Amino acid sequence: MTAKLINGTEVAKAIREELTVEVSELKEKYSIVPGLVTILVGEDPASQSYVAAKNKTAHALGIHSEQVTLDVDTSEEDLLALVDKYNNDPKINGILVQLPLPKHINEAKVLYAINPDKDVDGFHPVNVGKMVLGEECFLPCTPHGILELLTRSGVETSGAEVVIIGRSNIVGKPIANLMLQKRNAGNATITLCHTRTKDMAAHCRRADIIIAAVGVPKMVTADMVKDGAAIIDVGVNRIGQAANGKAILAGDVDFEGVKEKASCITPVPGGVGPMTITMLMKNTVQAAKMAANLS
Ligand code: GUN
Repeated sequence: MTAKLINGTEVAKAIREELTVEVSELKEKYSIVPGLVTILVGEDPASQSYVAAKNKTAHALGIHSEQVTLDVDTSEEDLLALVDKYNNDPKINGILVQLPLPKHINEAKVLYAINPDKDVDGFHPVNVGKMVLGEECFLPCTPHGILELLTRSGVETSGAEVVIIGRSNIVGKPIANLMLQKRNAGNATITLCHTRTKDMAAHCRRADIIIAAVGVPKMVTADMVKDGAAIIDVGVNRIGQAANGKAILAGDVDFEGVKEKASCITPVPGGVGPMTITMLMKNTVQAAKMAANLS
């Protein structure tokens, strides 16, 4: 079997077209322009490129975007003051502090300082709590993007055995929670694997759907995959640099081997990545509508 490609770039494009229409309607009918600020502390190249992509996409959709880059030595106090400034700025509906933060800054303290109504990342405990309870809230962007990819690609999740590899707060924990709920792309039976899991391969071989979010290049190999499984690869690992200076990326899945066994698979790049950014835009538009009591 050669797997069907789950094309995140195409799915993201379709959602962005819908959002572009929504943004221009908000402007025409209500004079509302959704606003997003991204805050980056330091010069991590991967974070720099993610933040640049987020701002570029916002701009393309007609969303007002501001990009703040702070010195790596910025104090926690100064960062908190900046977050507070944007909490009180009516032009800004969404605040995104790019993670990871430098070691001297308490990440939780900063994330908790963001007004939950502007928490377009869905990382504030109020939104995490609502998500776990299945209430309406900002869903974290990568898990939200994965749900959309599964739904729009026609992957059946109800009753499916889903193996998630990685227990991060950004991907593993929330996607596990969402997919066990009674919702679209939900009703699955979940196994959440992590570094202490005894026999990862045995769990994976049972899976109808594997979601890999570990940060280890090509960790999921063909021998770990059941024939016909659906594969979602969240990994973005920099494994080298091309002659033109661009990073060479690999996912957490050995794409070449696994595509011969899977029924469908996301590529890296061009799978989950474009969806993450698109769901951030969706949350920002949602935040603007909420601020204006339109939803
Ligand atoms: N770092 C890696 N992924 C993310 C994300 O989705 N949001 C933020 N703020 N930082 C990240």
